[in-house]
Amino acid sequence: MNNPLFFVNVFAYFFKVCGAINSSHNGLNPLIFNSFPRCFIDRDDESPHTSLSVCIVEQPVQIHQDVDSKSKRWHFQSYNLTISNIWSPFLVKAATFEDINGVSTAEVQLHLDKLDKKWLDIYPSLDYMIISTGKWFLKAAVYHENDVIVGCHLCPGKNLIELGFEYAYKKTLHYVMDFIKTSKHKGLIFFRTSTPDHFKNGEWHNGGTCPKTIPAKEGEVKIKDLNRILRNIELEEFEKASAKVANNEVNLKLLDFTNLLLSRPDGHPGPYRQLQPYSKNKTAVVQNDCLHWCIPGPIDFWNDVIMEIVVNG
Ligand SMILES: *[C@@H]1O[C@H](CO)[C@@H](O)[C@H](O)[C@H]1NC(C)=O
Ligand SMILES: *[C@@H]1O[C@H](CO)[C@@H](O)[C@H](O)[C@H]1NC(C)=O
Ligand SMILES: *[C@@H]1O[C@H](CO)[C@@H](O)[C@H](O)[C@H]1NC(C)=O
Repeated sequence: MNNPLFFVNVFAYFFKVCGAINSSHNGLNPLIFNSFPRCFIDRDDESPHTSLSVCIVEQPVQIHQDVDSKSKRWHFQSYNLTISNIWSPFLVKAATFEDINGVSTAEVQLHLDKLDKKWLDIYPSLDYMIISTGKWFLKAAVYHENDVIVGCHLCPGKNLIELGFEYAYKKTLHYVMDFIKTSKHKGLIFFRTSTPDHFKNGEWHNGGTCPKTIPAKEGEVKIKDLNRILRNIELEEFEKASAKVANNEVNLKLLDFTNLLLSRPDGHPGPYRQLQPYSKNKTAVVQNDCLHWCIPGPIDFWNDVIMEIVVNG
């Protein structure tokens, strides 16, 4: 690879490092190299949204960080390899109004026909990309097209048409796929379907938990309606685009780990989205994370799959 640029996860997915693991931990699968890894773990305890860990054969130099620390870039000198983690949860232009725990003070303002410059600007320079989005579309939002408000999702009292998140998700993915398929990009582009969560007895904001400690048997965990709706739209828009990409010589591939991940309710940080949540109070009630994944854990498998495709096509 000659100065490959690797763009990891545009959007709402993070390699969450769970409380028990520390940065000299060995034996994790490397993200890119298949040799014995040394782990570089970057963790930001305040925000689960910016935790990224990269297990790799050498310690990289961080060469970029945006103002809110959500997007970062590292350079691995001996391979002349650059990895970027780009925070763009909607892939289209969005203004959000919420804190690190996801508590909003206003609806997201979403422009369904304007791609987010955060990833758009760097797109031409990347050799490999993994693009995904998903759950953020379930949030209360006001939708804009052509700079005009066309409707919303979950905005009672605003006198706007409720279009539903499906409307916005289809429009956005269609637009993203349209851009990709006509981009004449020469790199390898993965589109990853959104990942299923395992919140039980509530959701992320109202006490949901995921207490399972062992994998489920195949078929034991059914996909939730919302996860299924998101995935179906993703598959549909990918299919439509993939019929056309070949003509344009764009190398777009699908990564869909839904069934593997459904069987791993035990793989989430749970209460350990913060370091040592029970150190002060053994019976404290803490917010659980049953959406992101621990490392080591189920997503180590992704690296093997991605590696196989990158190396062997
Ligand atoms: C690293 O890659 C950049 C961009 O392709 C190139 O300009 C530079 O010469 C490379 N550095 C080395 C040491 O090969
Ligand atoms: C991290 O792990 C190493 C190796 O297992 C261990 O020696 C070290 O004490 C750990 N550090 C912390 C802060 O737990
Ligand atoms: C520990 O947390 C529980 C549950 O929130 C609470 O009832 C209790 O008062 C806390 N104990 C202390 C010492 O803060």
